[in-house]
Amino acid sequence: MYVGFALLPLLFIFYLFTLYNDQNAIIEFSRDRFSLFALLVGVTALVGYLSLRAALARFITFSETVKKSVLEKIDSKVMLKLVDEEGEIGELAKSFAQIINRLDDNIQELEETKTTLQELTKKVSSVLSSAENFDSLVHLVLETAVDALGVKQGALFSFDNDHYTLMSRVGIGDDVTDDRAISSVKSYLDLIAKENRVFVLPAMGKTEQPAGLFDPPLICHSLTYRGTIWGALLLSGKKHGDNFSEDDLGIVSNLSNQMAVSFENAKLNADAEQTYFETMAALAMAVEARDPYSRGHSDRVGEYAQKIGSEMGLPEESIKILRDASRLHDIGKIGIMDSVLVKAGTLSTDERDLINRHPIIGETILMPLKTFKLLLDPIRHHHENLDGSGYPDGLRSDELNLTTRILSIADRYDAMTTDRPYRKTMDSVLVRKNFDSLVAKGKIDGEVVSHLYRIIEKGDLRSQTEDLLTCSLSGIVQGYPP
Ligand SMILES: [Fe+2]
Ligand SMILES: [Fe+2]
Repeated sequence: MYVGFALLPLLFIFYLFTLYNDQNAIIEFSRDRFSLFALLVGVTALVGYLSLRAALARFITFSETVKKSVLEKIDSKVMLKLVDEEGEIGELAKSFAQIINRLDDNIQELEETKTTLQELTKKVSSVLSSAENFDSLVHLVLETAVDALGVKQGALFSFDNDHYTLMSRVGIGDDVTDDRAISSVKSYLDLIAKENRVFVLPAMGKTEQPAGLFDPPLICHSLTYRGTIWGALLLSGKKHGDNFSEDDLGIVSNLSNQMAVSFENAKLNADAEQTYFETMAALAMAVEARDPYSRGHSDRVGEYAQKIGSEMGLPEESIKILRDASRLHDIGKIGIMDSVLVKAGTLSTDERDLINRHPIIGETILMPLKTFKLLLDPIRHHHENLDGSGYPDGLRSDELNLTTRILSIADRYDAMTTDRPYRKTMDSVLVRKNFDSLVAKGKIDGEVVSHLYRIIEKGDLRSQTEDLLTCSLSGIVQGYPP
């Protein structure tokens, strides 16, 4: 086509030239020369037309290929053919192929990010549904974040004014104390607490050395919700030595925001449940106040149960359960009328059945307390015996957990060591005889009782027990009111 177009002006000049003679005079128009010229123009135009058609055909092929690749899928064979061509079409095809390749890479990256986010969402959902309490939720979310981002270490700190607590840790050796972990990143935590900053530190270069504590690359993101900074999420040491990507930062940012919402919800729930618990405890005290013989009973049972638990080396969590369950263990008596509850004489069968329902009523009252669901078992079963002779369910030893057994013994101990309408308080000798008898009959846990004895011997219980030594020995009492 270009050859044809280029020849046209040359032909025209040649034609003009032939119109002049040697004296530069215009010679007479020659029909033959014009015919020859017309022939040449025709041939040239034909060549140009054919060339133009060929060029247009390639251009149309290129346009269709582009259109197809945008709307459907690239025809690689056609594109490769076009790329191999010389000239503008070839160059255009090459540029377009590069753009398409880059788009393919971006689409692949987006697909990978989408898959990662989908997996992360699935994991977080399963974590949220499987978590039993807030602490386990925090740990499971941290484990998920560490796994999803392929990092070596993760830590989640909570802020309480100027105090930092390491709530959860993953990939940090046992030789690193919580205090050391906090002090190693304290400067970041200080800035996050004051300025709500996010830290992203790049990797120091690939190294064969094992990861130190919070070695870069590192992300430290605040947990902020409604202007309150609840803590910080820290992740460090990518497993393949890479830096954190923009996608990683987006995932950390989303997780941090979600965790901050969870922190606030947990705080609100804890406040509401604590208020509910305190109300119930106040009600339990009010119930006790109806009966002069049981005033202060729950507090004393709580003290004994906690001391037995500590003596047995129980973890702090179990001691807390013992304390709270003791405070509320007889709350179910609120549903029993005074005429039965404080009756001095012998109870009828119906009255006894009514009183024996108080563990079930107590459990029902406390059901809405999700956080305190671990209290329900000891409260419902604090009158069960290991031989199945207790109430309300007649459970046996293997069905009664340790906190329930301890509460049961602390409850009996307080019943023995306080005045009752039908007898005076027992002295320590009589208390022992009663407990030994119950152990011998297989009704209560002998090991728990032995720890109670140890506390009594250490003089570690309330002085009223010691005072009882002066009381007269009046024989073994076979039963106690609840
Ligand atoms: Fe009790
Ligand atoms: Fe009771």
